Amino acid sequence: MLGPWDTIALVLNAASFVAVFQASGVAFFIAAFFGAVPESGWRIRRLGARAAALGIGLVVLRVLLEPAHLAGAAAGLSDAALHRLVMASDLGTATMLRLAGLVTIVLALGRSTHASATVAVVGAVLACLSFGLTGHTATSPLRPVLLPLLGLHLMLAAFWFGSLWPLGTILRHETAATAARILDDYSRKATFLVPLIAVAGIAMALALADPPSALPGSGWGRILLVKLALFGALMLLAAANKLRLVPRLRRGDAGAASALRASIAAEMALIVLVFMATAILTGLFSPPGEDAIAGWAAGCLTADDQLARAAFTISRIVVRSTAPGTSLPPMMNAGVPPICSVCANAALRSICALI
Ligand code: HEM
Repeated sequence: MLGPWDTIALVLNAASFVAVFQASGVAFFIAAFFGAVPESGWRIRRLGARAAALGIGLVVLRVLLEPAHLAGAAAGLSDAALHRLVMASDLGTATMLRLAGLVTIVLALGRSTHASATVAVVGAVLACLSFGLTGHTATSPLRPVLLPLLGLHLMLAAFWFGSLWPLGTILRHETAATAARILDDYSRKATFLVPLIAVAGIAMALALADPPSALPGSGWGRILLVKLALFGALMLLAAANKLRLVPRLRRGDAGAASALRASIAAEMALIVLVFMATAILTGLFSPPGEDAIAGWAAGCLTADDQLARAAFTISRIVVRSTAPGTSLPPMMNAGVPPICSVCANAALRSICALI
């Protein structure tokens, strides 16, 4: 049963995906179309800086509330040792890298030079790669293969999602000729790049699942199917834009710009659904083959084993922060329910004594 703090963690994860990938996507878009949008360039940079600022707030809130998520109660918020452990964990390290990326984007998008556009791209790459420090790709023995796949998956997803709002802004503020030229150019790039998101995603799924044949029967596999179905729907929308609406815009048809803006808004809404599915995928489920340990943990969840589970769950953070590269299954991602803060504290104190 999902507890309130699990739900809060999920919602914050999904919301921070939207803000982080909007900001990173604007950085990639500005670099790809630098100087090509005279009327809307500053509006697009402002959107990116605002999304990055929102992302900073959400990411900080997420890590500040993690002790309550771990303890399964608000009491965790006042537990300095739990905060220390969270900051010492992969989530702590990933948060620092993500914040570094987002702050770089905020500062760089304040200016409109080639150099600042390049710096913004560096910030976006840092923010995207920070996801490689958490999630199932981070705990897999195939990490050297999965990290570049995840990086490609996320940077392309950021370019796709993050470009949509700017395209709507261009349709609103640039001439029809300029808008048609930009949308043509964007759609040429996206036709080649966007399918690679699914290729990288499917490759990661097959690498993470053990065996891959267990995918369809697992909760993780079913959420992936939802992502794939949403991706399919998005491909249809994108094809309609490319084959019908952009040619109408090029011909100067009345109503083409507003039809395109509506279609772009629908694309954005579908990708937000993909982000929500992804937050559930990485927050509540594990790839097949990782569940064995979760089953073990669940098997021993009697009242007396509360401390054992607390020690195991928290020791996972401690071990990984003291021995980088140790891959232990993400019990927390397997939806192991939180425990009372008293038990967590007792386990915590015994673990802290080890550090
Ligand atoms: C609009 C399209 C998509 C977007 C925006 C998207 C976004 C994301 C994000 C943000 C993550 C990182 C989650 C994290 O580490 O916390 C992720 C991971 C992943 N995505 Fe996608 N994705 C998309 C499509 C797909 C598709 C079509 C597949 C293939 C079935 C896929 C498979 C995966 C897998 C396997 C992971 C790793 C999950 C894990 O670590 O448990 N994605 N995706």
